[in-house]
Amino acid sequence: MKKIDRETVQRILDTAEIVDVVSDYVNLKRRGSSYLGLCPFHNERTPSFSVSKSKNICKCFSCGKGGSPVNFVMEIEQISYSEALRYLAKKYNIEIKEHEMSDEERERESERASLFAVNEFALSHFESNLYDTSDGKEIGLSYFYDRGLTDASIKKFHLGYAMEQSDDLLRAATGKGYNVKYLVDTGLCIRTDQGRVYDRFKGRVIFPVFSVSGKVIAFGGRTLKKDMAKYVNSPESLIYHKSNQLYGMYQAKPSIVKHDKCILVEGYMDVISMSQSGVENVVASSGTSLTEGQIRMIHRFTENVTVIYDGDAAGIKASLRGIDMLLAEGLNIKVLLLPDGDDPDSFSRKHTSSELEAYIKNNEVDFIQFKIGILLQGVENDPIARSKVIADIVRSIAVIPEPVTRNIYITECARRFDIDERIVSAEVNKQVKSLIEKAAEKRLKKSAEESLDRLEEKEEEETSRREKDIETALRNAEDSSGPSAFLRKFEKGLLRYVLRYGMLDLCDSVDDDGNISPVKVIDYICDELRMDDLTFTNPDVLSTFNEAIKTSKEDWESDRSRNEAILTEKRAQYIAEGVAHLRESETDIATIERKEKLLMETADSMYQEGMDNFAMLYIEKSLSSHPDSAIRNLTLELVADKHVLSKVHTKYAHIETDEERLGELVPRAIFEYKDAILECRIRKLHDDLKRVASSPGADPQEIRALMEAHVRLQRLRGEFAKYLGERIINPRK
Ligand code: CTP
Ligand code: MN
Repeated sequence: MKKIDRETVQRILDTAEIVDVVSDYVNLKRRGSSYLGLCPFHNERTPSFSVSKSKNICKCFSCGKGGSPVNFVMEIEQISYSEALRYLAKKYNIEIKEHEMSDEERERESERASLFAVNEFALSHFESNLYDTSDGKEIGLSYFYDRGLTDASIKKFHLGYAMEQSDDLLRAATGKGYNVKYLVDTGLCIRTDQGRVYDRFKGRVIFPVFSVSGKVIAFGGRTLKKDMAKYVNSPESLIYHKSNQLYGMYQAKPSIVKHDKCILVEGYMDVISMSQSGVENVVASSGTSLTEGQIRMIHRFTENVTVIYDGDAAGIKASLRGIDMLLAEGLNIKVLLLPDGDDPDSFSRKHTSSELEAYIKNNEVDFIQFKIGILLQGVENDPIARSKVIADIVRSIAVIPEPVTRNIYITECARRFDIDERIVSAEVNKQVKSLIEKAAEKRLKKSAEESLDRLEEKEEEETSRREKDIETALRNAEDSSGPSAFLRKFEKGLLRYVLRYGMLDLCDSVDDDGNISPVKVIDYICDELRMDDLTFTNPDVLSTFNEAIKTSKEDWESDRSRNEAILTEKRAQYIAEGVAHLRESETDIATIERKEKLLMETADSMYQEGMDNFAMLYIEKSLSSHPDSAIRNLTLELVADKHVLSKVHTKYAHIETDEERLGELVPRAIFEYKDAILECRIRKLHDDLKRVASSPGADPQEIRALMEAHVRLQRLRGEFAKYLGERIINPRK
């Protein structure tokens, strides 16, 4: 992704208006000084998503999501920070000055952005095929004209044409530098098992599918021939989840909000024809039954939905269930039946826009009434069938969340079936109760799932934090501290002590009040690095080091005291058993006393060993099964021989182990590391000096400054060497 310069970022942040940005997704109503709407991040029926114009932030009081305009866009579009800035820049016509992408930057461009980009390209390719090629005009465009579409509608919905040749798009896109991978990932192209790649859409007219915010996320292609599957559609992809999309939503949005009503139809052509006839608040479920995600999307903009059916009875019965879902979402549903043989597309073409509007107004009926009518058809006089219908209607009424609305329908239903209202009411209430119980069960399950999700989120955050560490390290490696390859050995040397002995006490520190407290190896090393502002330059060393620090902080206290409790218990048990045994087997008081003392000592040292072992293994245990393989591998490499050594140690007790000499080994490792960094810096200064001195017209001032720095570092290094020599390097055997 290309970088956006800081000035432009500031301009975008200054310009983006929260009410404005959120309104693209949520129907906001003014409430005093703020705005309120249905939260787009979770399923709700009463608004708890609040937007403050003055503070320029939004927040859901129920699920907690929200934030600045950028946060909101990131969350709702599931895009990165810089993608969100780009989105806002586009919205507010702020120009972003792009510098050329470097290879590395190109690589980092996010997968999603690449998929959007390739779709964007395909969109304009299909569109220009339609108007600029002879096939496009003769086959595609004339088909659309035949179906009564105007150029304005074709442009509004960005209709297009895919050429017959099976590699037309593939060649055009790769010719422009788009990666075949993304053509395949979006589904625009298909890769065969043999590795051949060809276009998915061939010789078809194209209906692009847009997200709510107007990004091309998929395509539908209709064939113009007889003997083929009528529609080919983009498959699911990273950016396209069919079940969460409604065709035409992007174009219909303003009209839905304006009329506070959404009309639901089945197909692409239905949407476009109705829109062309002036009824623009139309969306299509694209031939499948409605999903919860789609319903929620509608609910963000309005509570009123009219479902249009073309007269075929079987189809209607099949979709009644989907409508119960709309009811359950708290939407007000009406149904419109078209005259026999007409679908919204053909009907709109036959009528003027005022006729269409009048027809809708006069013929849409309440859903419950409609359902009763449909189900009762032909069984009016069959009592058993009738009671089945009543039960079905009762179920539909019971899912309506609003009690007032429920009561209206109860009355209506009682009247229609000519039964006592109290009976209907009792039946409905019984159903409501069982639904509430089921919902509670579901909520329980969901909250369990959510806590799992949160765990996963936390892991993701950490991954990205580690990625940042790596970036920092790479940057550091490039600057004055020198080649990270040279430093690797020394960095690993330090990390080795952190991983092996990090939680052991190294020395005591005395604070200003004279309190003495132990300093752990890991803290000692941290302080030493911080003092000189040093950061490891090898990414794997750095991220492992940071993970070790995290481990040493997070759960250490609680884990340690748990272990302490266990060992205390064990110790007590050991003593109790030992004492009981002694009392039984020995008779001489003096012997018992002596052996008891021994027993205590053994118990104490077992306890101490248990505590030490726990501390000593704490970090390596956690990191050697770390999810990040770089961290895991480095840890294993650096602790591998530790345990072999300690076995030797137990056999020949006189061999001095590292852990007994930490007091000298750790400071030495630090000095060696710092010395290596000094060497890097000196080398670099040396190079600089040579370069400056040999360039014509060198600035004597600059040369002098470099030389002085050189001398200073050399002197420092000399002092280091003295320290290393005196204190550590001389073997003190
Ligand atoms: N549909 C689809 N894939 C299919 C069949 C149908 O995605 N294989 C979706 C399309 O969105 C289509 C809608 O279901 O628009 C309704 O299907 P259908 O009635 O068969 O198509 P129409 O839109 O009526 O197409 P046309 O009028 O051009 O025949
Ligand atoms: Mn049709």
